[in-house]
Amino acid sequence: MDRNKPRLGTVQETLLIPLYARAVENRKGDPLLRDARAEEIVASIDYDFGRFDGLPSLTGALLRTRLFDQWVADFLAAHPDATVVEIGTGLNTRYERVDNGRARWFELDLPDVIELRGKFFTDTPRRTTLAASVTDERWTAEVAAHAEGPCLFVAEAVLPYLPEPDVRRVVDLLADRFPGSLLALDTAGPGFFDTQETHDALSKVDARMQWYCPDPAQLADWRPGTRVVASHTLTSLPAPLLAQLPLPYQQMVAAIAAQRLPQAEGYRLNLLSLP
Ligand SMILES: C[S@@+](CC[C@H](N)C(=O)[O-])C[C@H]1O[C@@H](n2cnc3c(N)ncnc32)[C@H](O)[C@@H]1O
Repeated sequence: MDRNKPRLGTVQETLLIPLYARAVENRKGDPLLRDARAEEIVASIDYDFGRFDGLPSLTGALLRTRLFDQWVADFLAAHPDATVVEIGTGLNTRYERVDNGRARWFELDLPDVIELRGKFFTDTPRRTTLAASVTDERWTAEVAAHAEGPCLFVAEAVLPYLPEPDVRRVVDLLADRFPGSLLALDTAGPGFFDTQETHDALSKVDARMQWYCPDPAQLADWRPGTRVVASHTLTSLPAPLLAQLPLPYQQMVAAIAAQRLPQAEGYRLNLLSLP
């Protein structure tokens, strides 16, 4: 097969970092997660992935994905016929990992990403890709037309790349159109945001984070009634999830937690309930 040369915009290129993390992990004996699909996709994309080899933040991306996967799995256990919307889906394979055979999925990203995604994934009656910016409210009509009951919006490593007014717009859009839904998102605060120029993976690409958020509770001020259901750093993952990880990873997380690194403390994974 001819290898695909990705023609991606600056922020879109960042999707290759978690993709590569999952592909590399899949080759390991006792991995944080399995993703044979990511390995196949990486092999078929013409890109210098070697620049990310051995970077510690690849493990960080995998830990984040494990928690987001867990939140989606918990949500679908409680609401098996609900709707999951992946915002800024990139080449993520969460559907392959946690779909329950009943839920409705939407996978949204910018048009160039959806074009690339189309080479590897196919829509089905329960799985629809949407080519749009998350800030463009037109995409919400298609989700609203199909969504019955609560929705879980998953924005993994997406919103920090948007300017704050755009993030506020997204929160307003979701709360207005899908009241009572959940939103999983990460936030970059002090220690993490300020050191992005020297961040091991980000320094290898041109994209930079734009939204500085020292406290996810800030979103409740933007939109009264918003509740922070859960908020974790990569070194304070929920105990049941941590206990499921391979022992070397548990030990690594404990060692990093003991150092209280500003980079680790300033990056949070959050689950919000919208009013
Ligand atoms: C770091 S990647 C994360 C990809 C995926 N969520 C994952 O975890 O593998 C960031 C993604 O956000 C997408 N993105 C950035 N701005 C966006 C916007 N305004 N609307 C939709 N997607 C956006 C990018 O195209 C990219 O796919």
